[in-house]
Amino acid sequence: MKELNIYQLVPQHFSNESHPRGRLEENLLTLFSQLISNVNINHINSTVCSDSSKLIVAEIDRKYTNRGTVFGEIIGTATLIIMSTPHGPVGYVHDVVVDEQHRGNGIGRKLMLAIIDIARSNNLTELNLTTNSQKRPTAEALYVGLGFKQKPTGFYVLKLTQ
Ligand SMILES: CC(C)(COP(=O)(O)OP(=O)(O)OC[C@H]1O[C@@H](n2cnc3c(N)ncnc32)[C@H](O)[C@@H]1OP(=O)(O)O)[C@@H](O)C(=O)NCCC(=O)NCCS
Repeated sequence: MKELNIYQLVPQHFSNESHPRGRLEENLLTLFSQLISNVNINHINSTVCSDSSKLIVAEIDRKYTNRGTVFGEIIGTATLIIMSTPHGPVGYVHDVVVDEQHRGNGIGRKLMLAIIDIARSNNLTELNLTTNSQKRPTAEALYVGLGFKQKPTGFYVLKLTQ
C-alpha cells in the first residue's frame, strides 16, 4: 500500500503553494460528487473554516522535494461536526466517501478511526450518523464493524432546501 496521509483540512491548505488552490478544489469536487449530487465548493470551504466542523481527508502520492512537500491526491474524506448539547458534547459524522478506484482497501475504516480518535480527544460522549443500509451495504458494514449500533429512535429530518 502506498503512503497514506490522513489529516484535517484547514484553510491554510488552500493557500499553500504546494497544494495549488485550483487543483485542491477540483480534487475535492470530484471526490464529493461521488456522494453529493449538487456539490458546491462554497459549502466545502465553509466546512473547512468552521470551528465546529473537522473535514478529514486521506491523501496519497505526496512528494517530498528539496523545495518542500508537494501534496498528492485526496482519495477519501469524512466530516465530524461537534455540537454542544444539554446532555454533553456529541459528534455527528457526515459525508463519508472514498474514491471508487480506491474502495475496499481499508481507507474508509482508517478515516473513521481518525474521526473516532478526534471525538475521544474532544471528550465527546457519543458519535452519531445515519446511513441507508439498503442502499449502502458497504457503509453499513464499515460502521457496524467499528461498533456503531442502530438506535431504536427514528431520526427525523426537515429538509429546508429542495
Ligand atoms: C462506504 C465507503 C466510504 C467505504 O470505504 P472503503 O474504503 O471502501 O471501506 P473499507 O475498505 O475500509 O471497508 C469497510 C468495511 O466494509 C466492508 N466492505 C468492503 N467492501 C464491501 C462490499 N463491496 N460489500 C460489503 N462490505 C464491504 C469491509 O470488509 C470493511 O469491513 P470491516 O471494517 O469490518 O473489515 C465507500 O464504499 C464509499 O465511498 N461508498 C460510496 C459513498 C457512501 O456510501 N458513503 C457512505 C454514506 S453514509
